[in-house]
Amino acid sequence: MFLSFQQNMASSSPTLTIGVVGFGHLGQYLVDRLLKDGPSLGLTLGFVWNRNSDKLKGLVSPELVLDDLSSFANRQCDVIVEVCHPQIVIEYGVRFLSKSHFMVGSPSALSDADLNQNLRQASEQHGRTLYVPSGALWGGQDIQRLNDSGTLKALFIRMSKHPSCFRLKGDIPADLKEGRRVLFRGSVAELCPLAPNNVNTMAAAAVAAGMLGFTGVQGEIVSDTELQDHHVVEVEVTGSDGFSVRTVRRNPAKLGAVTGKATYQSFWSSLLICKGHGGRVYLC
Ligand SMILES: NC(=O)c1ccc[n+]([C@@H]2O[C@H](COP(=O)([O-])OP(=O)(O)OC[C@H]3O[C@@H](n4cnc5c(N)ncnc54)[C@H](O)[C@@H]3O)[C@@H](O)[C@H]2O)c1
Repeated sequence: MFLSFQQNMASSSPTLTIGVVGFGHLGQYLVDRLLKDGPSLGLTLGFVWNRNSDKLKGLVSPELVLDDLSSFANRQCDVIVEVCHPQIVIEYGVRFLSKSHFMVGSPSALSDADLNQNLRQASEQHGRTLYVPSGALWGGQDIQRLNDSGTLKALFIRMSKHPSCFRLKGDIPADLKEGRRVLFRGSVAELCPLAPNNVNTMAAAAVAAGMLGFTGVQGEIVSDTELQDHHVVEVEVTGSDGFSVRTVRRNPAKLGAVTGKATYQSFWSSLLICKGHGGRVYLC
């Protein structure tokens, strides 16, 4: 009898145990996929943590619920996935990397230069990979290649959404005015604290474009009431000698949704890559 490709994959590679931190939209999606598809792909759910564990009742078996995040190391996970809030990256990122590979679902946290440096150092020191999911970024690997060849000159990303899809901080006007309005244009370093939930894609781009970094990559967020059922992500890459690429991604999304539908599948695909790539940052 022939085994399916997936069964072969599972039997030939060791099982990886995954800890999921956060049980919101993304966390629930990943937990569901891990329980349903994980076993045939060699992935096991090690734990789920949510700040309010009541939310997990009836949905996750009690033995998989981690009550106290500071005891995460007892579960001995190969990979920990944060799909929660940048604050958890600040508080636990370095600790996670001391025990496991770490996929940071809120990479806008990396706009803090000190935290960015500390996470990179922890990754190198412990030989664990800091994974940054590409999310809604198209062409991240190509940007990274251009960056690594030293010929990346500029990178600009515009994210346009219906105003109900933005979660903004600070002085950016958050009203639901009709029409199209640029809410903010500036460096990704400036944008991340203002719209941490909306610019993770830009943060992933800033990681791919390490030469430019968070202060060098430019971003723009646009509120557009015409965008009732999708977000638009535009990426403009400039290289040397007149080289340029422009992509426009149309990401179907419910009205008011921060995250486009395709981004969920993108996160799952990213997680499948997290098998250990040494002590470095890796766009996945
Ligand atoms: N990388 C990307 O492309 C991308 C795409 C979408 C979302 N994200 C990020 O991933 C994270 C999760 O997204 P989501 O759509 O599942 O969000 P969500 O709001 O549906 O869920 C977040 C969960 O984290 C909990 N939480 C919120 N703030 C917290 C805090 N300070 N401490 C502990 N727990 C907290 C909430 O209770 C909730 O259970 C967010 O930070 C979001 O910005 C990244």
